[in-house]
Amino acid sequence: MKVAILLALCFFSVNAIAASNAITEMLTLYQTEGAHDFTADGVESLWNKKIRSAADGSERSCATCHHSDLKLQGTHFKTGKIIEPMAFSVNSERYQETKKIKKWFLRNCKWTWGRECTAQEKGNFLTYLKSQ
Ligand code: HEC
Repeated sequence: MKVAILLALCFFSVNAIAASNAITEMLTLYQTEGAHDFTADGVESLWNKKIRSAADGSERSCATCHHSDLKLQGTHFKTGKIIEPMAFSVNSERYQETKKIKKWFLRNCKWTWGRECTAQEKGNFLTYLKSQ
């Protein structure tokens, strides 16, 4: 029993360290790309802000797929697939790989906002998401 608890603790702390490494790496990169100090202020409303798509007139936000409550599962708008929660406090598998973070920011910002997010916006999103 004790061993199991110890193993579980190790598992979670390794995950937590890995996650903060990937996020730290991304934040450092964004600063080399011109971003300044990052803040979680205002990001919640940005997450839910609806932008009308030039492509089909639909209203899109990050919550369209991810859910506005970051601790809950989302549903992919197009495929109907379940998307696991974005809040790091309930999903420690989040934000582990810089490659994954890059890929999805690119895709999701383009689809949702019709443009790429700036380095500052991406850093603010990560700062907010990891604090949830
Ligand atoms: C059309 C659906 C959709 C929308 C809208 C969307 N996402 Fe995503 N997002 C996904 C999918 C699918 C994944 C990858 C699967 C997963 O990580 O569960 C993902 C992954 C991510 C990741 C990577 C998470 C990780 O664990 O590394 C980030 C960061 C992210 N999204 C941010 C955003 C932001 C910010 C917005 C709004 C600008 C947004 N997403 C809008 C579908 C969407």
